[in-house]
Parts: sequence; structure tokens; C-alpha cells
Amino acid sequence: MIKLEDFINDIINVTAIAALHSYKFVGKGDKNSADKAAVDAMRSELNKIHFYGDVVIGEGEMDEAPMLYIGEKLGKAKTPMVDIAVDPLDGTKLAANNLPNAISVIAIAKSNTLLKAPDMYMEKVAIGPNLPVNLIDLDHSFNENLLRLANAKNKLISELCVCILDRPRHKKYIEILEKNNCNIKFITDGDVAGVIYAALKDSKVDMYFGIGGAPEGVLAAAAIKCLNGQFQGRLIFKNEEEISRAKKMGITEINKKYNLNEIVKDDVIFSCSGVTNGELVKGVKFNKNKYQVETLLMHNGSKKITKLSKEYDL
Ligand code: FBP
Repeated sequence: MIKLEDFINDIINVTAIAALHSYKFVGKGDKNSADKAAVDAMRSELNKIHFYGDVVIGEGEMDEAPMLYIGEKLGKAKTPMVDIAVDPLDGTKLAANNLPNAISVIAIAKSNTLLKAPDMYMEKVAIGPNLPVNLIDLDHSFNENLLRLANAKNKLISELCVCILDRPRHKKYIEILEKNNCNIKFITDGDVAGVIYAALKDSKVDMYFGIGGAPEGVLAAAAIKCLNGQFQGRLIFKNEEEISRAKKMGITEINKKYNLNEIVKDDVIFSCSGVTNGELVKGVKFNKNKYQVETLLMHNGSKKITKLSKEYDL
């Protein structure tokens, strides 16, 4: 039976080595190669681990992704059986254009405990720890969520800072934030990190809100669980084809609002490593023939939250 510490080290290597490989493509303007390098490296590292992993969040469905497709089985043992959620490179454009905050991400949980979210959009809201339970809710108006959060934090609404993806679809929320004179932290991409900002110790961000990728939503929820924050998500369907794809993946209630414990039902390990420099983790550094990779590792069960830097030869 593999020891937890060894298992955690294996997981750190998975994101760190994926980050390292996609780093070779940073600033080269080729997001697909940056992503492919991370995918190939991550898959090869996962296949070295003593577990039987089922990819529940991956690069796409089997017919559209040759590697890390949803349903792919990885690892070199028959037990323990785990769910694997991956985003080998969150922020492909960020990496391609050498912009901050590109990361490599994974979450590992017991078998059948992570939501199998299809590759479509999800409406998300997240806040940090030590706040009244069910404080925010996707069924409340955006204004009401802001008001409730401000009251709970003993702040004025104008003192809140909300992180949101800079997209036209968020116009109505941005207008509300501007009208209330809130602080807005715009991100251009990479909403796994964006969600995490809302729950990090000493973060200036009070809330994450908006629509982004559903797979990224599951990964972010795993991190929020480790940080003891609050998260809700609801799938957003663009058309009938997406609805039938979701149904095929086992989603029965189309308009369901998922609470954190329905997205991540049990213990979870989360790891993300920096590709480019960012607020969560530093990017890969090359120094004296070695690559330095920084990783944020969190484990809900042992309450471990640690940031560490490891050296690798390529
Ligand atoms: P990629 O790394 O796959 O390019 O995704 C980046 C990302 O910004 C995610 O973090 C986010 O959830 C999603 O894209 C938002 O999608 P869109 O760019 O369509 O608004």
C-alpha cells in the first residue's frame, strides 16, 4: 500500500513535470503545442503511479481527445481506485503569449466522488473560509450575494473585491460592480486560479463570480474544498447538442445547482504548478542547468496546504 506522503509526492511531480514541458513553448505563440507538451508529460507521469485512475475531467471525450480523454484508465496498479481530474495547462493562451498565471492542474479523489462535468460552461461563485454556511447562492441575485458577503465580512459593498473573467457575457455583472464602486480583479484567462484567489489566506479577493469552463469548475471546487471555502456551480448549455452530450455523461438534472459537496463528494488532493509567473505560484525558472518548478499542494483530509519548489533535469 502506497504511503500518503509518497502518493502526494507523485502528484506534485505530475503537475510540476507537465508545467516544465509546456514551459518550453512559453512565448512561442503556439497554444496547442504548449498544451500537448503538458498533456503528454502529465499522462506519462500518471502512468507511473501505483493506482488505478479513471479520468473524469480530461481533455475531452474519447473520440475528440487521443490523450487524457474522459474514461481513460491510468496508473500501474489495480488499487486504489481513484478519480482523476486534470487540466494539464489552464491558460493555454497565457502560456503561448508569455502572460502570467498559466498553471498545470490536477485533482485526485476516491473513485466516483468527483462530478463528471462535460466540456461546456459552468456558472460559478466562490468565497473564502470562516463565513456563515450557505452565505452565497447562485439563486440569489448578484446584488444580494454582494450584500450578504459585505455584511458577513463587516465591509461596505464598495470595499469588496470580486474576481471575474473579462468577457462580454459578464457585462451585466461588471456594470453592477462598477455601479457599487467595488474593486474588480479582471482575469483574461485561467479561472481555476481566479476561483482560488477568493479563498486564499491574505488574498484581496472576496468573491469569484462568472461563467467559465465546467471542467475548470470541478478542479477549482477541489481547491476550494481544501481551503475550506464555499463554491457553487451550475452547467450552462449553449444548445441541444450540449444537453444531449451532458445526458450521455450521466447528468440527469439539467438545471441543477451543484453545491461544493456534490461536486467533490469526499477527500481530495489538489496540485497546481506554475508555468508562467503568477499570483498563486511562480513560473518555471531555468538556473544552472536545472529547472525550478513551484507547486501549490493541498490535501483536504490532512488539512495540508503547502507551497514548494522542486528542481528537475529535463
Ligand atoms: P484553456 O487553457 O483551455 O485555453 O482555458 C482557459 C480558460 O480561461 C479557462 O480557465 C476558463 O474556464 C475558460 O478558458 C473560459 O472560456 P472562454 O475563453 O470561452 O471564456
